[in-house]
Amino acid sequence: MTTDNNLLIDVRQLSVGYRSGGQTLLAVQRLSLSMAQGETVAIVGESGSGKSTLANAILGLLPEHAQISAGQLWVDGNELTHASERQKRLQRGRTVGLVPQDPMVSLNPTLRIGQQIAEALILAKGKRYPGVDADIVELLQQVGIDKPVLRARQYPHELSGGMRQ
Ligand SMILES: Nc1ncnc2c1ncn2[C@@H]1O[C@H](COP(=O)(O)OP(=O)(O)OP(=O)(O)O)[C@@H](O)[C@H]1O
Ligand SMILES: [Mg+2]
Repeated sequence: MTTDNNLLIDVRQLSVGYRSGGQTLLAVQRLSLSMAQGETVAIVGESGSGKSTLANAILGLLPEHAQISAGQLWVDGNELTHASERQKRLQRGRTVGLVPQDPMVSLNPTLRIGQQIAEALILAKGKRYPGVDADIVELLQQVGIDKPVLRARQYPHELSGGMRQ
């Protein structure tokens, strides 16, 4: 099986279930969608219809007791349907990421912003590396944050809501 190379996300007939007490509850059933570069896709549905489950599958963040029971999932040309944790981690932070609705749930209030960005960079790279401080400042600059060197040394409560996102 292959994917169309122009697609960043290609979800084909995907089913995801959660195992519980010997039973599996299907949260996503035979769902297909695709997204090319520059496209925006909004997923709309009632509470419990499987939106977060689908997003977690794309991010490679399904919990242990979840299972992709049918279909395929391609992200940036790589098939992630049954990929290892290591493969999924390599995609995360490079080609897929999450901007949470409430950033304070994801940011640790006791760590400086720079340390928290470093954590993700080091995980993506697989190890500590010398240029990490420069990368932190560059990333902050890329998203339009002023005084990036200062910001990297600040704590989450010292940033505005938009900056935290
Ligand atoms: N970690 C989990 N373990 C077991 N079942 C789960 C888990 N997460 C979600 N589910 C179940 O999967 C189904 C889909 O849930 P999901 O969170 O994907 O819905 P949603 O569309 O994101 O809802 P909402 O709009 O409320 O955020 C629900 O029946 C839910 O109970
Ligand atoms: Mg949800």
